[in-house]
Amino acid sequence: MMHISVTTGARDKRHSGGAVYFLFENEKPGTALARADAGLDGLIGRILARGDFKAGPGSVHLLYGGTASGAERLVLAGLGRRNEFSWNRLRHAAGKAATALRSAGAAGVLVSVDGLGSAYEDIGQAVVEGIVLGLYRFLKYKTKNGDAGGTRDDVRAVALLAESEEAAASLRKGARRGAVIAEATAMARDMVNTPAADMTPAAIAAKARELGRRHGFRVRVLERRDMERLGMGGVLGVASGSAQPPKFIIAEYRRGGNKPFIALVGKTITFDSGGISIKPAENMERMKDDMSGGAAVLGALRAAAMLDLPLNIAGLLPATENMPGGSALKPGDVLRTLSGQTIEIINTDAEGRLILSDALTYACRYEPSVIVDIATLTGASTIALGPEAIPLLGRDDEYKQRMREAGEKTGERVWELPLWDEYAEMIKSDIADMKNASGRAAGVITAAALLSKFVQGRAWVHLDIASTAWTDKDRPYTPKGATGIGVRLLTQFLRDVAAEGGKKRQTKKPR
Ligand code: BES
Ligand code: MN
Ligand code: ZN
Repeated sequence: MMHISVTTGARDKRHSGGAVYFLFENEKPGTALARADAGLDGLIGRILARGDFKAGPGSVHLLYGGTASGAERLVLAGLGRRNEFSWNRLRHAAGKAATALRSAGAAGVLVSVDGLGSAYEDIGQAVVEGIVLGLYRFLKYKTKNGDAGGTRDDVRAVALLAESEEAAASLRKGARRGAVIAEATAMARDMVNTPAADMTPAAIAAKARELGRRHGFRVRVLERRDMERLGMGGVLGVASGSAQPPKFIIAEYRRGGNKPFIALVGKTITFDSGGISIKPAENMERMKDDMSGGAAVLGALRAAAMLDLPLNIAGLLPATENMPGGSALKPGDVLRTLSGQTIEIINTDAEGRLILSDALTYACRYEPSVIVDIATLTGASTIALGPEAIPLLGRDDEYKQRMREAGEKTGERVWELPLWDEYAEMIKSDIADMKNASGRAAGVITAAALLSKFVQGRAWVHLDIASTAWTDKDRPYTPKGATGIGVRLLTQFLRDVAAEGGKKRQTKKPR
């Protein structure tokens, strides 16, 4: 684990591996960089004057200074124009700077936050998030150390350099928050990157229990027989083709006195082969990521606990594989869900909505102020928005707005799609209450339309993370593989609800 600290200047050997300075486009070096440049005989000033480094967003420039500059290696990290600043740009720049220094071999890094303004808490958070997430690697299955991408050792220590004691205090607070949230995100990435053979429903249940023990929330796990007794036909139907026993994981975090619960529901398909409606072989290995929703919920719970948010949260993870076994669900079958409503199976690959139907019904038992579900639900989300945004649908304008704001702050942006009643027409079944698939049109929406039948008119926000849970290319602070999407978004959402004291009005309009 990386050591993160805040200092006001006292140089520490551990961080002398490299120093990072942020720069805006068309601006002169700030106090801290000018100081370093004095020890460099004005080299940086000349680099900027020549236009060798333009400080465009996400651009980095590595140079070597010598001991007079305070650090051997120096990285200039570009933020683009000041008037276009965003927290995401700062995370990008921090992540890129940190990976550049790691590639160069720096074990300790000093980061100056001079010139970024005075919102020190948020600065500390964003810088630490960018660094920790940018440096993330998944090496569990590499037998040779340092094999990944030709990079060398890990960065072991990061210190943020503050210009005053007051700044340091706020930076410290923000840096701690950033570390908590980034590490929760890294945990979710680890879970998603882990092969399905090792990240089974039982393994996720064990992980949830361990988290509950360590961070002080209660975890219960319903076994197959419990689900049979309750009548969870959705989860059981999907699980019927698998050799792995399903688990219905319930985490209850209670630090909100008598506030109503917030229910977080995460799709937790540990491998989605498609079932009898089997998927093509190409890219099927990626379908280990179909538990990303569940991982996001556990990550958010861990962060909420470590930040000691004064809330009551119920985390619900219906966990199973979707496999084509001899006793698997078949197209044409009809399931009776926990709600009593029946669903005709048209396509066994539309399994997420089946397990979520039971989990949403279960969520309603908490009489929550809002239900948020997060799910790698539809390939259609890639067609609709691609990797840049999460389709958001739901009922309740206030909570949808809160989710949009959390998306802007975290860079895990959401974009609303409509959920008009007409879309429900498309999932009508000839023989059951509804059907689980209906052709290619409006795939994100018809999936959400089915979910909407299970929230009993409660305030509800649905996030379809199928196009954002995984990335095939390295991004500034998101290396190839699992993104851990949703942890930061949900944590921000929870922090905002905690800060604003939830919602006054409660919608209970049955539909
Ligand atoms: N887990 C998939 C969605 C998915 C697809 C996630 C690609 C990540 C990448 C989901 O269970 C699924 O298979 N959905 C089907 C639904 C269809 C059969 C109605 C889809 O989107 O093709
Ligand atoms: Mn599927
Ligand atoms: Zn799936």
